[in-house]
Amino acid sequence: MDESRHPFLEGLSKHRGVPPTVAVIFGASGDLTARKLLPAIYNLGVDNLLPNEFHLIGFGRKPITDESFRDNMESAILEHSRRRIKGEIWQRVRANMTYNSSEYQDIDGYKALARKIDLLENKLGRKVQRIFYISTPPSVFEQIIESLGESGLAQANSNSPLASKVIIEKPFGRDLESANNLNNLINKVFQESQVFRIDHYLGKETVQDLLVQRFANAIFEPIWNREYIDCVQITVAEKLGVGNRGGYYDGSGALRDMVQNHTMQLVALTAMEPPLSLDPESIRDEKVKVIRSIQPLNLIGDNSDVVRAQYKEGLIDGEKARAYIDEDGIPKDSNTETYAALRLMINNWRWKGVPFYIRSGKRMALRTSEIVIRFKKPPGILFSGEKHFNVSDNTMVIHIQPNEGITLVMNSKVPGLETRMQPVKMHFSYATTFGSNTPEAYERLILDAMIGDSTLFIRGDETEASWKLLSPLLSFWEERGKEELKSYSAGSWGPSISDSLLAQKMHEWRN
Ligand SMILES: NC(=O)c1ccc[n+]([C@@H]2O[C@H](COP(=O)([O-])OP(=O)(O)OC[C@H]3O[C@@H](n4cnc5c(N)ncnc54)[C@H](OP(=O)(O)O)[C@@H]3O)[C@@H](O)[C@H]2O)c1
Repeated sequence: MDESRHPFLEGLSKHRGVPPTVAVIFGASGDLTARKLLPAIYNLGVDNLLPNEFHLIGFGRKPITDESFRDNMESAILEHSRRRIKGEIWQRVRANMTYNSSEYQDIDGYKALARKIDLLENKLGRKVQRIFYISTPPSVFEQIIESLGESGLAQANSNSPLASKVIIEKPFGRDLESANNLNNLINKVFQESQVFRIDHYLGKETVQDLLVQRFANAIFEPIWNREYIDCVQITVAEKLGVGNRGGYYDGSGALRDMVQNHTMQLVALTAMEPPLSLDPESIRDEKVKVIRSIQPLNLIGDNSDVVRAQYKEGLIDGEKARAYIDEDGIPKDSNTETYAALRLMINNWRWKGVPFYIRSGKRMALRTSEIVIRFKKPPGILFSGEKHFNVSDNTMVIHIQPNEGITLVMNSKVPGLETRMQPVKMHFSYATTFGSNTPEAYERLILDAMIGDSTLFIRGDETEASWKLLSPLLSFWEERGKEELKSYSAGSWGPSISDSLLAQKMHEWRN
């Protein structure tokens, strides 16, 4: 492929050539469709990025009429779209939306769907691309994929540019075995090029910018290695608790919900080698390679690389916050972790000996996702000794969200007659430079799936590699029960033992 024309570089240029498309959303009566998917589709319409022939079919068990589906989605867009609803564009999208009600295991429901799409193609006088977006709870993923195969919907036009595509929401499996089973099933029904496993973090501008910062600037890559970097810290912290998703969360926990997917993707993009090109497979090859290079985790003893904890009551912004076990839908004896921290050691030439500390938790002190690159200190020849110059570490902080941007921390002389130093910051803010109304992750991801660009989606072997690393940990935690479960106060930065994880190598979390 001619790299200069690759969609990854083109960004959101107009008319990226999305073929005539029918998109089917399974689970379309749900939260994600209302909050993210429909607003994203509408905004693609505003940007003139939907094809003229674009039809949307909601699919689910509830008996919903076409008209009430349209009304519900209009309310959703009014509430959640980043841009105000514009009559003409919305009316065009709305007029082409319908709903099919069916049980997910009822093959007749899929046959009715196939007939509807056939009729549409006859009316248009041409074939269309079929996008199947699976946005149900994971318990029905397999059922839907099997039925897409059995009804013949999946294979439609499989060797043409109009090949049907399946987009699958997270979580992708609960452990290595279930992820492998899901991959095997998918590969029976679809070719890998038709499969788009979502991790919406990859749709975030700041996450995509990681590759640009690393590989389009000559100043970072030469120092991006064990010679100059002391440690890397990746934090994905939420202030919120489980809200009304307690039932789902308690069966999942922080490791499955955030670490296996979002946090590991940030590790992969931070640590991967330069890809051969911007071709999707070259980028994903490097991500898999680096995840496979992570050493198996030490689970026991003083050298343990892992911490798990659950929040107890505490204060968030001065307000009392309940303990996890007092949240709605959570059993009082729950053994689910709401916080996980790991120390990853990457066993390759670039990173040998550099710890990657990663943590994710709910009810933490701040909502923040950031990557912190902490550089080694300069040789202590000049600013050392009796005067206690207090040289701080140079640090690069990549703020994934909120306040997207990059901060570089360095030492500077405080003006005055004596030599005193102080860490100072150079800051680049996306909002200040580019404005704040940038596309949402789901806009980019849905558009990319429609044009068949899989760069920002997870390949089957990538999910397998990260589950291979984390599955033994899940089994260990399951075996040990509450023995391994620490606690932390809501509104804090997690349990104190996670500080010890870093202190062993003389490091500290950046809080
Ligand atoms: N919500 C988010 O913020 C978010 C963020 C990231 C990823 N995700 C992922 O996106 C997917 C959808 O999330 P969601 O929040 O929209 O889910 P949801 O609201 O719980 O469910 C979506 C729809 O699936 C159907 N459904 C629910 N439970 C079911 C069950 N046990 N068996 C069969 N069908 C069921 C329901 O539609 P019918 O009753 O009409 O069939 C429901 O409206 C999930 O895989 C989730 O993990 C969600």
